[in-house]
Amino acid sequence: MKLIRDGATGLKTLPAFPVVLVTVGQNILTAAACSFYSFEPPSVMIGIKPARYSFELICKLEEFGINIPTADQLSLTEYCGTVSGRNVNKFEEADITPMESIKIQSSLIRECPVNLECKVVSTIDWEGSHRWFIGRIECAHIAEDYSRDQALMFWLGQYRKVGEVLHGKQRIDF
Ligand SMILES: Cc1cc2nc3c(=O)[nH]c(=O)nc-3n(C[C@H](O)[C@H](O)[C@H](O)COP(=O)(O)O)c2cc1C
Repeated sequence: MKLIRDGATGLKTLPAFPVVLVTVGQNILTAAACSFYSFEPPSVMIGIKPARYSFELICKLEEFGINIPTADQLSLTEYCGTVSGRNVNKFEEADITPMESIKIQSSLIRECPVNLECKVVSTIDWEGSHRWFIGRIECAHIAEDYSRDQALMFWLGQYRKVGEVLHGKQRIDF
């Protein structure tokens, strides 16, 4: 075992995170800083850097959509994560279909098999590179044939598929 005093090296040992397409208003941002927050109320959190156009929008609208892309939608995911909505309309440029939400004003992405409508209930803004927006899931649209195995993961420049299930019988209090 080596003692590493540099926290950044420690951070890099984490496995990949799920990648999502966050919709706010009529814009889309790719985010790998996405995590479970709570079972009750069902909530997630996303980390967004202040420089992003989506940051301005989420601060104003206090809501967001989480659209889960499949591994087949890697090029769409890469596109939404490399151009800014300040300069282009990503729905039009990527030729994807805005879908109306039920509980929020922001558009969702019809081509994604899962869309979660979230309202911002709190933020975490402690010194870090990202501000974390905690969103309560108000409702979900889920394709009948959706499986979590289709999702896409990302960390340190690498995209990955979800791995195999090793053990899944026992319920663990998480
Ligand atoms: C795979 C991937 C993951 C990303 N994850 C995040 C993230 O978690 N938070 C963030 O602020 N930006 C993230 N980005 C960068 C933004 O998606 C990117 O800067 C985007 O162009 C911002 O769009 P906007 O200016 O329209 O909001 C990621 C990009 C990629 C390709």
